[in-house]
Amino acid sequence: MVLLEKDLVTNLKEINRQNAVESTKLDISDEELASIDREYCTYGDKIHADANPKVFRDCNGVFMYDSDNTPFLDLEMWFASCNLGYKNKRIRDAVVNQIDTLPQISSHFQYDYKVLLSEKIAKANIKRFGTKGRVHFNVGGSQVIEDALKLIRNYTHKSRMFSFFGGFHGRTLGASCLTAGYRYRKPFGHFSEEAHFVPYPYCYRCPYGKHCDSCNYYCVQQLRREFEDNCAGIYDHSSKECAMGAFFVEPVQGSGGYIVPPKGYFKELKKVLDDFGVLFVDDEIQMGFYRTGKLWAIEHYDVKPDVITFGKSLTNGLNPLGGMWAKEELISPEVWPNGRTHSTFCNNPIGMRAGYEVMSTFEEGDFEREVANKGKYFLDGLKELEKRHKRIGNVDGLGLALRIECVTEDGYTPDPQLLHDILAEGLKGDLTYNGKKCGIILNKGSHYNNTITLVPAVTISYAEIDMALNLLDQLFTRLS
Ligand SMILES: Cc1ncc(COP(=O)(O)O)c(C=O)c1O
Repeated sequence: MVLLEKDLVTNLKEINRQNAVESTKLDISDEELASIDREYCTYGDKIHADANPKVFRDCNGVFMYDSDNTPFLDLEMWFASCNLGYKNKRIRDAVVNQIDTLPQISSHFQYDYKVLLSEKIAKANIKRFGTKGRVHFNVGGSQVIEDALKLIRNYTHKSRMFSFFGGFHGRTLGASCLTAGYRYRKPFGHFSEEAHFVPYPYCYRCPYGKHCDSCNYYCVQQLRREFEDNCAGIYDHSSKECAMGAFFVEPVQGSGGYIVPPKGYFKELKKVLDDFGVLFVDDEIQMGFYRTGKLWAIEHYDVKPDVITFGKSLTNGLNPLGGMWAKEELISPEVWPNGRTHSTFCNNPIGMRAGYEVMSTFEEGDFEREVANKGKYFLDGLKELEKRHKRIGNVDGLGLALRIECVTEDGYTPDPQLLHDILAEGLKGDLTYNGKKCGIILNKGSHYNNTITLVPAVTISYAEIDMALNLLDQLFTRLS
């Protein structure tokens, strides 16, 4: 017995020695990486949108560093996945601690942080909406959308949904049914459950040619008319049943170009959905976790969602964990019993620990006030740029979800080429700030492929916002 124990200890030491991780950076050039990539990597993910994808070697706070150690101010933050900044020490330490305590556990056993994180999110929603609910996790945004689709189907027995023009909810087969752009579905054949798409309140380019100040929510009235018309194809007046189970909503449209709906919009929409028995799924995968200055962006609109989906910044980018919260009626154990959906890694402890620490950070700080103030400061700066640069058509934002539309000389026509050039120029790394060489990382979105979406970490400082405004000014001056 003593010998066995000794052997075990020796064995463990040997395994630990073999597994010891070298933290040094690999000595491999950008050119070598590109050549291996050309030979062995898929072109089906998004990295090859650029002919020569930029290589980065390090990150910290709101900066990425390339192979020459040039800093790039990052206003994309891994598509809004790192709201608390890169290498955030608190989240990092928690994850390392989890690796040293319980790094692995099969997803059908119980442990602390999964339960405690669920409690935090459920209680946050009781506080915000007065609604009791439960939380279910999965391994990424699209997978969470799949789960939400199953949840709605399970409850309503309806397989079609409403979604918005310009909406993006992921690229798995189910999520693609809700993602509006035809290009996401075109290569993959027929999608029988494709959503019924409805115009988003994109007031700067209103699809109905109306003006926001005077339209009286014309777009919502149009939807109501569709419901009221017995022959419009979405509602049966005799059985009082809608063909769709739920409306999947982005509270601020993300990939669509950071479009902020008018203040009363979702209340008006929700009235229609309530009148005709359609559930409201609030997709916070991109706008959640204080991007807009609230835990959930929908809080700005004073409506109570039935389901909330979240992901991305839940773990500050340290684990691809996402989840859905639903009100009790939809997700109680009687309605949503054991095994309705599951995945090997859905309850993984590293993600749960990161998520717990992210939620704790937000609970303890005054992010609501800080993000609102920083967002206003940033947007005021953008408005100054708009005055000086003819090729900026519109700037807008909610908290730190901000947008700039690139337009032609006429001040309104979308200019996708200018957008493309600005993004590429920022990645060259030859701008200067305070006498030092630097670059800027920007993201794009929108219905007309002409919008810069600004997604800074919510921890960005005022000095870094000044830097961002200065670099954007340099880019528009160079390229306009
Ligand atoms: C609103 C929204 N929903 C769903 C998704 C899909 O998430 P993922 O890319 O993690 O699959 C995204 C991704 O950008 C998103 O912005």
